[in-house]
Amino acid sequence: SLTTTLGDYAFQNVFMNASGVHCQTEAELDQLAASPAGTLVTKTGTLEARAGNPEPRFAQLALGTINSMGLPNLGIDYYIAYAERFQEKHPGRPIFLSVAGMKPDDFPLLAQKIQDSGFTGLTEFNLSCPNVPGKPQIAYDFDTTEAILAAIFKVFKKPAGVKLPPYFDLAQFDQVAAILNRYPLTLINSINSLGNGLWIDPATDTTAIKPKGGFGGIGGQYAKPIALANVRAFRQRLRGDISIIGTGGVTTGRDAYELILCGANLVSLGSILATEGLGAFTRLSSELESEMAKKGYTSLAEFRGQLKTL
Ligand code: DHB
Repeated sequence: SLTTTLGDYAFQNVFMNASGVHCQTEAELDQLAASPAGTLVTKTGTLEARAGNPEPRFAQLALGTINSMGLPNLGIDYYIAYAERFQEKHPGRPIFLSVAGMKPDDFPLLAQKIQDSGFTGLTEFNLSCPNVPGKPQIAYDFDTTEAILAAIFKVFKKPAGVKLPPYFDLAQFDQVAAILNRYPLTLINSINSLGNGLWIDPATDTTAIKPKGGFGGIGGQYAKPIALANVRAFRQRLRGDISIIGTGGVTTGRDAYELILCGANLVSLGSILATEGLGAFTRLSSELESEMAKKGYTSLAEFRGQLKTL
């Protein structure tokens, strides 16, 4: 079976969407809810609704995707209201809210809104949107990251996590994990897209997307080794009570299996969900079950975190 747990929560299937994909509107969220996915996360909501960046702002590449969406979303109030209705209709099926500030001071305001709501699920504070022109990714600034976590947890008493960008240096994993371990986090989600790649059309020598001169977040197969390293590195450094949503480069059941070997509790689908559609959940679930059968496992707990090294 593909059942899993994260914190005190249980899920019937290990797969979910990655925030941003198929989760902006009520109709899309309802389609996710009716799919085999074990849970879902809303598009990152900001205090005010946003139209996002000019189009084209998403493109499919040979081995993944590039995007510079610019946080288009219907606003935090819309997603809180959706989540409150969802939990009425589906008791025992916890979901995730994703939220981000356009500036650091927005984070405690978002936290307070969710704290004051009837939402009983989990909240992911996105510290890693790469696509808002002129705004650095918060999670690459460790002092600001720590200040935001301190401000959030002054008001927030519900289960919370952070969405992190990819890190590339082992010293960064040490520094970030040391900060995260000081706060009552339930989870991290690793990784967000690889910030600021560039794709060029060989026929026209032109970029694939319009915002930011063509720079955008890269996802899909390009991201997989980096996602595996990030999940593994954080699993080795975080408190045992902090769970991990593994995100990045999953296109096969084997990819999901490997993220779980590195320590993932849930596995989210970004680029593959965007390009293949909701059928990806069915295909990947059956591929992951085949991979487990081949290795003689009947539950995720038997191999989670059990990566072997030489
Ligand atoms: C956007 C935000 C993200 O966190 C991400 O990884 C990709 C895109 C966005 O809306 O621009």
